Amino acid sequence: MTHGIHSYDPLHSAKQRIDALRTEIRRHDYLYYVKNRPEISDDAYDRLFQELSQLETTYPDLVTPDSPTQRVGAGPQTDLKKVQHERPMLSLDSIMKTDDVRAFDTRVRRELGRELDRDLGQEAIYYTAEPKFDGLSVELVYEGGRFTRGATRGDGITGEDVTINLRTLRSLPLQLQAEPDLPAHLVVRGEVYMRLDEFQALNRRIAERGDEPFANPRNAASGALRQLDSKMTAERPLVVTCYEIMAQSGHLVSTHWEELDRLAAWGLPVPSLRRRGASIEEVIAFHAETASARDELPFEIDGVVVKLDRRDWQALLGEKSRSPRWAIAYKFAARKEVTQVQDIVVSVGRTGTLTPMALLKPVDVGGVTISRATLHNADEVARKDVRVGDTVKVERAGDVIPAIAERIPVPEQQRADPFRMPEHCPVCGSAVAREGAYSYCSGKAACPAQVKGSLEHFASKYALNIAGLGRKTAAQLVESGLVNNLADLFALTKDQLLTLEGFADRSASMFMEALERSKHVSLERFLYGLGIRQVGEHTAKVLSRWFGSLDAIMAADHAAFERVHEIGPEIASSLESFFQETHNREIIDRLRRLGLSIVMEGGHDPGRPRALAGKVFVFTGGLSQVSRDDAKRRVEAAGARVTSSVSKRTDYVVVGIDPGSKLDDAKRLGVATLTESEFLVLLERA
Ligand code: IVH
Repeated sequence: MTHGIHSYDPLHSAKQRIDALRTEIRRHDYLYYVKNRPEISDDAYDRLFQELSQLETTYPDLVTPDSPTQRVGAGPQTDLKKVQHERPMLSLDSIMKTDDVRAFDTRVRRELGRELDRDLGQEAIYYTAEPKFDGLSVELVYEGGRFTRGATRGDGITGEDVTINLRTLRSLPLQLQAEPDLPAHLVVRGEVYMRLDEFQALNRRIAERGDEPFANPRNAASGALRQLDSKMTAERPLVVTCYEIMAQSGHLVSTHWEELDRLAAWGLPVPSLRRRGASIEEVIAFHAETASARDELPFEIDGVVVKLDRRDWQALLGEKSRSPRWAIAYKFAARKEVTQVQDIVVSVGRTGTLTPMALLKPVDVGGVTISRATLHNADEVARKDVRVGDTVKVERAGDVIPAIAERIPVPEQQRADPFRMPEHCPVCGSAVAREGAYSYCSGKAACPAQVKGSLEHFASKYALNIAGLGRKTAAQLVESGLVNNLADLFALTKDQLLTLEGFADRSASMFMEALERSKHVSLERFLYGLGIRQVGEHTAKVLSRWFGSLDAIMAADHAAFERVHEIGPEIASSLESFFQETHNREIIDRLRRLGLSIVMEGGHDPGRPRALAGKVFVFTGGLSQVSRDDAKRRVEAAGARVTSSVSKRTDYVVVGIDPGSKLDDAKRLGVATLTESEFLVLLERA
C-alpha cells in the first residue's frame, strides 16, 4: 500500500492555504485601494489577514517578501540611500490662464509642424488631461512584475531610496498582473499623497501630543514617506496614483491614454478622473469641470496636467532642460481668504533687496495657515494701498509665497498712515538705493543680512550643498564675527566652531568634514552659489557649458556674455558688474587659495577651448543609434545647441533616416551635413 496522493502533508496544505489567502488579500487590497469598490467588510478582511499571519508564524519558512503581511518588514534604517534615476525625472512648466493653454496648443502645432515638415493647420490634435495631484513624485521599478525599488524625485537626477516605506502603501501592488504584455523591466512614475481626512486626523493626533502640526497634506506625505522607520510610514496612510511609464523593456503603446490603460491593466492605480480631448477647447472644459469638483475630492489637486497624447509626437517635441515641451501644468486659480494686516515689516534678502512683508492675523487658505504675505516692493504697496490695520484678501497659488490680492475697504474705518520704504537698511543702517520699483541696501558685504543670506545660499542644496549649514548656522557664523564673506567659511577652524552655541566635538567635526567635501565643486554649482542677481541654476548651467572654465567667465565682458544663447542684456550686465567688482574677484581668488577646486562636470578640462562651443546643430530624419533627446543632451554638454530650422547660422545638419525638407535647406544654404555616425564621432572628439 502506498501513501501516494491521499497522504496528508501539513506543510503542503499550509502552503496552499497561504497562497490562497495571499491571492485573496491582494485582490481585496486592489478592490479597496485601487478600484475604490470593496467587496467585503473590514472585519472579514481582518480575519483573512489574521489567518495568514498565524499560518506564517507557524511556518516561518513559508514567509516571502511579497506577502501582504510583509509590507512592514525590515527594521528602521539609519539613513535613506541615494539612488540615481534611470531617466531624469522632469518637472512641468505651469500656467494658469486660458489664453496660455491656447498658446501652448499653438506652440505644439508650430513645433510639431516644423518637426513633421508639414502644416498642421486646424487638424485635430489629441490631448489627455488628468488631475495634478498635490503630493510627491516617486519612481517605481518593477522587475519581472515584482516591485523592486522606489525612490523620491530628489533633484530629478538622484532621489532617495524609499522602497521599504513604499511597500507599506496598500494601493501599491507588490506584484503586477502579467497580462497584457507586462514588460520584464518597467519604471513607472506616480504621485504619493495623503487623503484630506487622514491628514486632518494625523494633525489632530500631533496637536494632542502638543507638537507642531503639518502645514498641508503634501508636507505630511513627504514626512511620512521619508521616515527611517517604515512602521511610521505605515501609521500615516498614504496613497499613490501612477501617470507615466518612464522606461520599459519591449514595445511601447502609442498614446498616453493607452499608457494609462496599460498601467491600470497591470494592476496599478491610475487617475480615474481623466479625459482625452480632440482639441484644446475640450481640455479647457475639463479644467473647468475639475475645478468645480475640486472641493468634493477626498485629496488635494492643484490643477490639471495636459499631455500631448501621441507618444511619437511627444518624442519629436522632446524636452527643455527640466520640463517636457509636450506637457504643461494648467493650474487652478489661487484660493483666497480675508484677514487683517497686523504690521508691515521690511526684510533684507541676500542680494540686498528690501521686501515689504505684511504680518497677518493667521488665516487658513485652502488647508494652509498663512501668517505673512509678500508685498513685493514699494510700488506694489502703494498700488494696493495696503496699510497696517487694513482688511485684505490673501491668495495662495501652489508653491508661490502667499500674496495680498487686494484690500477690502471698510467704510468709515480710521486708517493708519501709508507705508513708506525706510531710507536706511533696517539691518545695517546703510543708505537704501532705488532701482526701478525695487529698493536695495547699499551695504553689500557690510550688511549682515546680505552676508547671512549669501552664505546660506552658497551652502544650499543645489550650490555647494554643505550639510549642516542652514539659515540658523549661517546666522550664528555671521553674528559671531567668524564669517564676513564666503571665503572666511573655508578658513574656519574646529576650535572656532566649538565657541558657537550648539556645537560639540562631534558636530564640529562633521561640519569640518562637510566643508572639506564641498571643496570639490562643479562650475555650474559654484556659479549658482555665488548668488549673482538673475543667475539661477539654469543660467549657471548654460554659462558653465558655454565657457567651460571660471577663468574664461571672469575674463568675459558684456558682449561676450550677450553672445551666449539664452543670455540677454540684463543678465549680461549683472554678470559683468559682479565679476568686475574687485571685492568679488578677491573672494574668488581667496576661495581658490583655501583649496576650493572648481571643475567642469563631465571631465572637461578647465581652460581648454571647447571645440563645439557655440556651434548650432539641426536634426532632420530619424536617428538609429541614439534618441533625439540624448543626441540633444550630448550636443549641449559639448557647449553647442540644437535649433529646429536651418539658417545661415546653422553649423551642421545631422541627416538621419527619411530626412525632410531641412536637408534641401542645408544644400541650398551650403550648410555642412553629417551622417549620424559622423555626428557621433564629432561628439566623441569634442
Ligand atoms: S507628469 C514628464 N502628471 O507635478 C512628465 N505630473 O509640477 C512630468 N504631478 O513633478 C510629470 N500630478 O510630481 C505629471 N498627472 C500628473 C501629475 C504630475 C502631479 C506632479 C509631478 C511633477 C509636478 C510638476
